[in-house]
Amino acid sequence: MRMFILPTCMCVLMSVFLAGTASGKRVLLMPSHITSHTKYHTNIARALNEIGHEVWVCMPSFLVERNVLDTTGLHVLEYKTDVDIEALTMHPLPEKFWRNETENVFDQAHLMLTYVDAMLMDKKFVDSVRKVNPSLIVIDSIPTVYLYATLAYKLDVPFAVAGSHYDPMTMRVPFNPGAVALPVFQVSKHMTFAQRVVNLAALSLLYFVDMSGYSNAVSRYAPERPHISMEQLLPLAEVVLVESDHILDYPQPILPNVIRIGGAAISEPKPLTGIFRDFVEKDAPEGVIVVSFGSMVVNLPDYVASKMAAAFQRLNFRFVWRVNMSSPEPGKILTSTWIPQNDLVAHPNVRLFVSHCGKNGQYEALYNAKPTLCLPLFGDQWYAAERTRSKGWSLTANIKEASADDLVEMITELTRNQTYRSRVARASEIFKVVQGLPVKRAAFWLDHVMKYGGAYMRYAGQEMPAYKYFCLDLMAFFGTVIGVLFFLCYLMCSRCFRMCLGSGRVNKSKRE
Ligand SMILES: *[C@@H]1O[C@H](CO)[C@@H](O)[C@H](O)[C@H]1NC(C)=O
Ligand SMILES: *[C@@H]1O[C@H](CO)[C@@H](O)[C@H](O)[C@H]1NC(C)=O
Ligand SMILES: *[C@@H]1O[C@H](CO)[C@@H](O)[C@H](O)[C@H]1NC(C)=O
Repeated sequence: MRMFILPTCMCVLMSVFLAGTASGKRVLLMPSHITSHTKYHTNIARALNEIGHEVWVCMPSFLVERNVLDTTGLHVLEYKTDVDIEALTMHPLPEKFWRNETENVFDQAHLMLTYVDAMLMDKKFVDSVRKVNPSLIVIDSIPTVYLYATLAYKLDVPFAVAGSHYDPMTMRVPFNPGAVALPVFQVSKHMTFAQRVVNLAALSLLYFVDMSGYSNAVSRYAPERPHISMEQLLPLAEVVLVESDHILDYPQPILPNVIRIGGAAISEPKPLTGIFRDFVEKDAPEGVIVVSFGSMVVNLPDYVASKMAAAFQRLNFRFVWRVNMSSPEPGKILTSTWIPQNDLVAHPNVRLFVSHCGKNGQYEALYNAKPTLCLPLFGDQWYAAERTRSKGWSLTANIKEASADDLVEMITELTRNQTYRSRVARASEIFKVVQGLPVKRAAFWLDHVMKYGGAYMRYAGQEMPAYKYFCLDLMAFFGTVIGVLFFLCYLMCSRCFRMCLGSGRVNKSKRE
């Protein structure tokens, strides 16, 4: 008899334990098609998995095949496609940049729209999402990718937003273009008059030029559901997680349901292994400098590679350089097309990070308190470089124009002058105190809105059509009132005038 009791007890215990995890919900994350975005979505996904949820990450075939993302403990929902949209939209960018050509944002937007449209019209894909039966869908925050919200609406599943794009217009954040810059210009916290003019003009343009194919999106992708506009659908997100914060970026007003989780790609560094450990840890009195333009830019034109190599060879440091070329001096410069960037930047022997100022790299430098030499290329990298330069953590150079001498001078200044290091060390300390490990906060808030919903945090501005939000009806009302008053005034004045004239004439005729 007793022999049975023990297993029964264990079964009960087990089922209590399982019931604990069974309260976990199913979450589907839908990042955009870019590797770096999918990377921080998988980071958030793993953090959600750690607190007991069953998490699915949607990835297109080409990302599944590339197999560069850590999906431990996660389910991958593959979107079967022959189109490598990342190669189409992202890979030409560095080539164009080096050829001094500008990118055409309209072409990019069109490619993306075609891709997203095919995905949302794909019955098989929509059915596979329905089969997952998620309690929450988390979408990325790139304008075209916002269309994924229609899928959540179609399936009647609540959705949240997690992405790097802080979009005050879509989320209806009271936004003052005189005080907050769009993250595209090279501006510091306080903008000049000219910068504010450009900022306001760009903001108006963004508002009135629809590059995202929003008109009638809901009736196209969810025809069986009542039609609402995208601008009304998007603010219904349960919570909006933004890959940004008040320490690396500039402080700005946010809403209760906007949570800044900047640094979701940050993880605790792991010890270095293999050639990287040997190179970084061997006797290095002056220390090591890590150089990277990110995973997208490993092929440099000769004139850039040679002046960088010349500068590095003149300096009394050793270099780990992410680049597709053989090292000009292997004992001093280690080149590789892949580096364990976070673990390298975190290493105590590393003195400086030379970077294009991608978001992930900037957070790694901040978290590990390393000054940066910013060599921004395109996109929001000039904005990103300027925010750390203006805070005194970094210097910026234009790599097309800077000479080897300039590079030597800047690297010397950044490593000799302790001001840069002490400022970024202080910011790093504040970041850790205030933000903790950002992925944990992301998981907390997604879990929170699955339990309680996000409606209690939503303000009235997010639940009204645009004409009310922008007070167009009030302006029309007051315009009408003022117009009527003016008209009445006019009527009265003209009548008075005529009466005066009339009585004048009467007096005149009397005198005659
Ligand atoms: C691009 O411009 C830089 C100077 O800004 C110049 O040195 C370089 O030769 C140019 N490259 C091409 C391909 O024209
Ligand atoms: C590195 O360069 C070689 C040719 O110089 C090229 O064949 C190869 O694809 C490049 N590798 C990467 C990762 O871009
Ligand atoms: C160090 O850098 C700070 C900030 O750029 C500057 O004000 C200071 O004069 C520099 N110190 C030296 C010794 O160059």
